[in-house]
Amino acid sequence: MKRLFLMTGCVVWLLLIAGCGGGQNTQTSESSSSGSASSSASAPAAGSTSMPAVSPYDSGPRAGETPRDEKLAEQGEKLFSTKGCTACHAFGKRVTGPDLAGVSMRRTAVWMENQILHPEKMVKEDPISHELFAQYALQMPNQKVQPEEAKAIIEYFKEKDHEAKEKSEK
Ligand code: HEC
Repeated sequence: MKRLFLMTGCVVWLLLIAGCGGGQNTQTSESSSSGSASSSASAPAAGSTSMPAVSPYDSGPRAGETPRDEKLAEQGEKLFSTKGCTACHAFGKRVTGPDLAGVSMRRTAVWMENQILHPEKMVKEDPISHELFAQYALQMPNQKVQPEEAKAIIEYFKEKDHEAKEKSEK
């Protein structure tokens, strides 16, 4: 009885291996032939979970590396609570959304602006946003933020990270 069980196990296992192996083989040959023709940068990120996600909006300097605007940051601080962001985000701790401490050194301003203005599109089209969605199992809602307001909020994130850095250096 025990042997029979073991044998069925092996057969199932072999079938699985054969099934997966076959599928993978056709996939790699397809992607390698198309990969040489198209750009190679975006191709591997799509299906792989071990590689960090690459986003077309996230190339260039981090937002926190660009000049700061303290006036705008003050407006951004108010908007951050009036636009409902504090329901899910804080700095230095996780609420239901990602901890925003250090976010200006993780992302570009363009990426954050898109995430704030069109979170519902970003989660579908952008690999980083999609990965965050998978991690937090929550969709960031569209808070009807205007582009100018998003810029102010991003200045606030930059200011927060700048202050944190100054504190740590003291
Ligand atoms: C209902 C909860 C919720 C609200 C409200 C919300 N967010 Fe989010 N936010 C999320 C989640 C969840 C993610 C991760 C992406 C996803 O799953 O959509 C995220 C991602 C982000 C990111 C990217 C974080 C990173 O680590 O790269 C930024 C920046 C951000 N939100 C800013 C804001 C701002 C600004 C507001 C207010 C206008 C806001 N969020 C409102 C839940 C929320």
